[in-house]
Amino acid sequence: MRLFVAVAVPAQAADELDGAVAPMRQSWPALRWTGRDAWHVTLAFLGEVNETVSTRLEPRLERAAARHPCLAVSLGGAGAFPGAGRARVLWTGVQGEPRGLAALAASVAAGARRAGAPPAEERRRFQPHLTLARCREPVDARPLVDSLSGYAGTPWTAGEIYLIRSHLPGGRPHDRPRYETLGRWPLRVSAIPGP
Ligand code: 2AM
Repeated sequence: MRLFVAVAVPAQAADELDGAVAPMRQSWPALRWTGRDAWHVTLAFLGEVNETVSTRLEPRLERAAARHPCLAVSLGGAGAFPGAGRARVLWTGVQGEPRGLAALAASVAAGARRAGAPPAEERRRFQPHLTLARCREPVDARPLVDSLSGYAGTPWTAGEIYLIRSHLPGGRPHDRPRYETLGRWPLRVSAIPGP
């Protein structure tokens, strides 16, 4: 099964982003826009994992999550992979506690590795993002990146991580996947400072 670990995006943050993206969907219909139901922030993409490894993953992910405090994050800004002038993926970024999110992603990756599911493309620098659109052929997305660059969504507190299975209906990565949550584990609740 094809697995990844992610942080969820709450309804309010998704509503706001949906509003900002709606006019772009209209004017750039050739891009394959992701649906808001599929929005998440990937911490680690594990790829194909067998049943045995997926069972081993669960306690590892639970431990990884428990080592990190809840994180205040928000969606904002924009970018494209591999670059705005020849984009294959258009995204909005995750702001707030980039170091905390990167540390959490590193722990998740380490736990997955120990469980026998080393994340794909681990050597790439972690760039927290939410994918808004994909394109088969590179496209000049600079106007889109420019118009979204000032976007700043309402912050929320990320309090758990999710293990998600991605079902590809036609078995091909370009098909629109269906996501199934296999498990969720809480981050550590920070101690509330005393008076
Ligand atoms: P993306 O949003 O940047 O496309 C489920 O497919 C999640 O895992 C998506 O968020 C996707 O990131 C990520 N993902 C898919 N294939 C990947 C790969 N080969 N390497 C890294 N991340 C991948």
